[in-house]
Amino acid sequence: MKFFIDTANFDEIKEAHSWGILSGVTTNPSLVAKEKNVSFHDRLKEIADLVDGPISGEVISLDAEGMLKEGRELAAIAPNIVVKLPMTPEGLKACAVLTSEGIKTNVTLIFSVNQALLAARAGATFVSPFLGRLDDIGHNGMDLIDQIAQIFIVHNIDTEIIAASIRHPQHVTDAALNGAHIGTMPIKVMQQMFKHPLTDKGIEAFLADWEKRKSE
Ligand code: E4P
Repeated sequence: MKFFIDTANFDEIKEAHSWGILSGVTTNPSLVAKEKNVSFHDRLKEIADLVDGPISGEVISLDAEGMLKEGRELAAIAPNIVVKLPMTPEGLKACAVLTSEGIKTNVTLIFSVNQALLAARAGATFVSPFLGRLDDIGHNGMDLIDQIAQIFIVHNIDTEIIAASIRHPQHVTDAALNGAHIGTMPIKVMQQMFKHPLTDKGIEAFLADWEKRKSE
């Protein structure tokens, strides 16, 4: 499974990129709204220049015409920009047209297998099932990832699954086990993934032994 970072914050993106683990970035209007003093397009350009991988920027129009206009403008920013579209009939209309123009798409706010299948058939490059938000309402988000992954294999669908709305490291492990191609997550989850008490203890012991030897 590949790692995308789910943020529009450039410092966080630079940090995750420096670890050598980053394959792409996802943003959404809520994440972009947190970023002050920079335009959405300028921020996407900065990100796309730094990260060599798909960078999702989301449209805010609700009608296909508006989405197409926004989507084409976003795609013109850089060749690695992916147009993020909502899982609605208008969103899929726009998805089909942008796909026919060679523009990559990410259909977002997926909460059922049928939504994922519809998006894939409209030509989506990526689908984003939101597992954390399903867990929040007492459903099992991971079952959704598992079922989409199985159905895409059985039906030979090459749309990639981005496990989204990841809240903790166990989500990452389970999404990978269940066949998600990509996990997109906040930097906090990535930082948590590094941690293991035995790693810290091991480093401490190695350094203590080294210091002991030096003073002999
Ligand atoms: C994915 O593309 C979304 O931006 C994101 O994962 C949503 O996560 P949230 O449910 O934590 O807001």
